[in-house]
Amino acid sequence: MFETPWKISNEILRRLAYPRARIRFALNGIHWGKNWRIYGAPIIQRFRGSTLVLGNGLGLRSSVRSNPLGANRPVILCTWKKGAVLEIGENFGMTGGTICAAERIQIGDNVIIGANSTIIDTDFHPLDADTRRRQPQDARTAPIVIEDDVFIGMNCTILKGVVIGRGSVIGAGSVVTHDIPARSIAAGNPARVIRVLAQRA
Ligand SMILES: CC(C)(COP(=O)(O)OP(=O)(O)OC[C@H]1O[C@@H](n2cnc3c(N)ncnc32)[C@H](O)[C@@H]1OP(=O)(O)O)[C@@H](O)C(=O)NCCC(=O)NCCS
Repeated sequence: MFETPWKISNEILRRLAYPRARIRFALNGIHWGKNWRIYGAPIIQRFRGSTLVLGNGLGLRSSVRSNPLGANRPVILCTWKKGAVLEIGENFGMTGGTICAAERIQIGDNVIIGANSTIIDTDFHPLDADTRRRQPQDARTAPIVIEDDVFIGMNCTILKGVVIGRGSVIGAGSVVTHDIPARSIAAGNPARVIRVLAQRA
């Protein structure tokens, strides 16, 4: 602890931020789980009639000082429409960035998301100009699944309809537009598999 004095102040600030964070979750009808570590106040936006479930062991870092990579915005967890589902498993960790579900985003256990990444299962706006004017809410959506033990690097964008397979790693700054198989390292824009991780014996 003495070698990393900023961690002491981070812990003090975490405890001071607790009441505010707890109120934010409670106002959104979200049960406070076991062993949650919430640094700074996240932004929680739950559409009434949608589902937002967060597992035990949640770690959210919204304050700039809470991670050397520096959150450039608080963590934003959002369900965008009635009936949307955002479900996150146990031991999830994220610094800054956004997860927004208009339809369904399912995240497994032990998933880590690097600083300032964005995961959205909708285009937010229709692609056709007339529709965009007349029915702006008719954007395309497709569910996202992020399986157990996935590690997503910093500044990534995960777009609608993708499945990231168990144990895979997404390189920093990648844009994921297609499925990534299990135990793969994928990177780039659009993200492509660059290496397959060895199976554990
Ligand atoms: C994805 C990553 C883990 C891969 O590491 P690695 O297996 O050691 O990969 P290498 O450095 O050997 O690179 C292999 C190839 O992929 C490319 N590559 C690696 N990371 C890349 C990235 N983020 N985007 C685009 N291409 C990438 C390399 O240029 C290299 O290409 P080449 O074979 O044509 O030379 C690493 O590059 C990375 O992005 N780490 C950052 C993780 C992060 O964001 N952590 C912060 C969490 S908060």
